[in-house]
Amino acid sequence: MSVLLGDARVALGGAGFSLRDDRDDGSSVATIRAGLDAGIRSFDTARAYAPVGDPVHNERLFARALGPSILDVTTATKGGHYRRDHDHWGTDNSPERLRRDVLDSLGALGVDRLDLFYLHRADDETVPTRESMEALAEMRSEGLTAAIGISNASIDQLERLTSHVSIDAVQNQYDLAHPDSPVLAWCEANGARFVAYSPLGGASNAHRLASLFPALASRAELRGISVQRLVLRAVLATSPAMDVVVGAGRPKTAVEAASVLDEPWTADDASAVDADVHECVRSLAGLRGTNGSATVARTCTRARRSEQSPETLAATGSSPVEGASTSAGRAPSRGRLRVSVPDQRDILISL
Ligand SMILES: NC(=O)c1ccc[n+]([C@@H]2O[C@H](COP(=O)([O-])OP(=O)(O)OC[C@H]3O[C@@H](n4cnc5c(N)ncnc54)[C@H](OP(=O)(O)O)[C@@H]3O)[C@@H](O)[C@H]2O)c1
Repeated sequence: MSVLLGDARVALGGAGFSLRDDRDDGSSVATIRAGLDAGIRSFDTARAYAPVGDPVHNERLFARALGPSILDVTTATKGGHYRRDHDHWGTDNSPERLRRDVLDSLGALGVDRLDLFYLHRADDETVPTRESMEALAEMRSEGLTAAIGISNASIDQLERLTSHVSIDAVQNQYDLAHPDSPVLAWCEANGARFVAYSPLGGASNAHRLASLFPALASRAELRGISVQRLVLRAVLATSPAMDVVVGAGRPKTAVEAASVLDEPWTADDASAVDADVHECVRSLAGLRGTNGSATVARTCTRARRSEQSPETLAATGSSPVEGASTSAGRAPSRGRLRVSVPDQRDILISL
């Protein structure tokens, strides 16, 4: 299986650099350069991350920060999804629009060929996803982009594409409490990279990982590293097909994201993930009985994304994640809970 994002398997994502109203391009450039200097060799941008009125701001920012090094690293970008105004984003996955976006991205990044271009938001309602992906495949064969990907794709969409278009990468939301097992399995079976976005649970969860994953946090403390670094290592450990794209608002966190794969990963680390993810399942099993395992798993997922304890959610009868399905089983070799949530929400963009 080829490694699209580089051997280090960690990309630095740029959503935060252009979406924030109080953005400071100077500090974003410093953060990207700190990541580059620390060894990050893969970067992730998109048209949709732009501020109102400046649709290629994010891509230009990466071009400015990376300078000539852009030719030595992998820079992925995405199209078909764009900012309409301050609070709304639109989707146009027509072949004409995608070609225009690819040409704009080439100009903004200042390269002759893109490394990886994703359909940002698979959306069969306006244009069949197969038509959009075939348009990207055509641009790949023309040499406008080296590789193509799809983002926010469901397993149904991917299965419908399987025998028609060869897809190099799928970028979907994935974190330890919100895995996407069917899509990951599809990538493993079809030789595509699974690129996990928001691998720390997004900006709202990233700074409270120590309370969400106490067992992993103590292992990180023993090793003198941050829990965030160990959580990224844990996500990479879930599959050889897995890459991650992590956000950083400061040079320090960009530096921490580099060389994550160099962190040793042991059976004790895997057990710590297991303990953390299953801790709330065990506590709820007593409340609900064994036949509630699917609900328990969904409730745990939701509990980990909110401040509420699973007990509180169970007691109030709050509904679990909409549309979630789970086998509530776990792959013992990977030590994780299998929960699939079809609604792939772009957290940063919809906020
Ligand atoms: N395809 C899509 O639809 C889609 C959707 C969402 C995101 N994405 C991509 O995924 C990228 C990352 O997603 P995300 O930003 O939502 O979530 P994330 O990577 O899970 O979390 C980002 C947060 O993690 C913090 N962080 C990272 N390393 C840390 C460390 N070592 N110690 C402490 N804090 C650390 C950062 O803090 P600081 O800010 O303090 O540095 C940042 O706020 C985006 O930039 C974008 O490229 C794609």
